[in-house]
Amino acid sequence: MTHNSPKSSPQKQGLARNTANYGDSDFALYLRRSFAKSMGYSQAMLDRPVVGIVDTGSAYNNCHRTVPELVEAVKRGVLAAGGLPMPFPTISLCEPSLFPTSMHYRNLAALDTEAMLTAQPMDAAVLIGGCDKTVPAQLMGAVSADIPAVQLVTGPMLATPFQGERLSACTDCRRYWAAYRAGTVSQERIGEIEGRLATTAGTCGVMGTASTMACIAETLGMIPLGHGSIPAVHADRLRAAEEAGALAVRLIENPVKPSQIITARSVENALRVLLALGGSTNALIHLTAIAGRRGVKVDLRHLNVLSDSTPVLVDLKPTGDGYMEDFHAAGGMPALLWELRDLLHQDTIDVTGVPLGQRLREPPFVDRRYIRHRDEPVSPVGGLVSLFGSLAPRGAILKRSAATPSLFEKESRALVFDGLEDLANRIDDPTLDVSADDILVLKNAGSLTPAGMPEAGYLPIPSKLARAGVKDMVRMSDCRMSGTAFGTIVLHITPEAAAGGPLGLAESGDRIRLSVKDRTLDLLVPAEELERRRDRWSPPTKPARGWDRIIADQVLQADEGCDLAVLRGSSVPS
Ligand code: FES
Repeated sequence: MTHNSPKSSPQKQGLARNTANYGDSDFALYLRRSFAKSMGYSQAMLDRPVVGIVDTGSAYNNCHRTVPELVEAVKRGVLAAGGLPMPFPTISLCEPSLFPTSMHYRNLAALDTEAMLTAQPMDAAVLIGGCDKTVPAQLMGAVSADIPAVQLVTGPMLATPFQGERLSACTDCRRYWAAYRAGTVSQERIGEIEGRLATTAGTCGVMGTASTMACIAETLGMIPLGHGSIPAVHADRLRAAEEAGALAVRLIENPVKPSQIITARSVENALRVLLALGGSTNALIHLTAIAGRRGVKVDLRHLNVLSDSTPVLVDLKPTGDGYMEDFHAAGGMPALLWELRDLLHQDTIDVTGVPLGQRLREPPFVDRRYIRHRDEPVSPVGGLVSLFGSLAPRGAILKRSAATPSLFEKESRALVFDGLEDLANRIDDPTLDVSADDILVLKNAGSLTPAGMPEAGYLPIPSKLARAGVKDMVRMSDCRMSGTAFGTIVLHITPEAAAGGPLGLAESGDRIRLSVKDRTLDLLVPAEELERRRDRWSPPTKPARGWDRIIADQVLQADEGCDLAVLRGSSVPS
């Protein structure tokens, strides 16, 4: 065992970084080392460069069940490469475990991640995330902290073979629940299905938000190519973790910072990929927030330009047939990026520092059942469109790849619900005045409300219509939809009702016109009438204290990623 003096280790690296403010940095380092030694580290270990490992394991987070073994594998990689691994906890967010919704806490997780990455001594980091909000939060935090970081995801769960079909969270959850509501699936059967939907560790097994964000992180360059879609229970997942640890050590020698990786060009690549995946609408909000930390603006009108020139190539649920394990086996992101290569900026670098064009030198293996050729796309145009008009002056989103084309051009009567409680109280009322031709509207469910912008945009079909066989209706709101859901559903209407947007003035009986062809969404009510309604409107009362109050004071609208205003970046790099 060696006993070097405190001054013998390199300054500003490893434990010597960010010493606590005692007014004497040598004393602060001496104190830090002496406490670190209480954990049994040798001096040689304490002299190594430090890799922080963000540990989001939690008994509340089924999607992160494998995090303990991933942490061990990352540590192995760090140690073998000559670093000192230092795992530490941050908030863990699991979709079904959080009230009012995980989205309400994404920015808290981002703030936690940023604070711990910058406050604690580390030279690089491995971020272990997976469930929907964790990866966006970690990327937002890493961009703001701007220390070299590698994103590692827990990976998707495997689908479960069950009585002649395969089941996985959570498109099949919704399919069966809709059938149960329609009366075609019994109470006993739905109970049986409940135990078959998620049977392995990992994130939802379809192209929902978690999978979309993993693919986006891989496109941005924060996950090494080919690592994002490895199933959670595959041994390769642990090897990817080991490699992430070793890569983090290499990043200390040859730093590549998130600010070099996340640029306007890599963000545009990520938008292309989001469209080609038929990916989650939530990913658009998250990507906007991540880009916003760098001062890069995601323009919803430009999204339409990209969408018109980007085909959907991935055939997975909720829009197609396959599961994430099929996507991975079919070639995963290397195959998809290869197929899209002429549409992508090829000079964007990833955590290895290598430009995309060089990473895509060889045509990879591809299974065309799940990753289509450009000449035979799932759809010739992208999965998402943004809509603008008098109901959505700053935009709204429709996932056209998961919608019913016969409902794309529609002018109809609105049935408006004032909020989630009103929706729950009335949607299944047998006396509800509703027909399949109506447009269901939910307001007061955006990020400024106590509801916290939940995934409630997938308004249920009123049960009397569901039982009559109605499968889809035009539905719209200022909240979000699960990436695993489907239907003709307009989301993220901006400004939201609680921010004074026109949506807040909509009433049952108004007429609304949706035109996907023209990318418009209009509330067909005379201006004078809207002015009368505005005179009667008042903003919601703000919560008195705590995180809820910080959100109410700071949260931005969907077109700015719902980040906190105070956390956004100010530079506009390219
Ligand atoms: Fe965690 Fe779906 S609930 S990814």
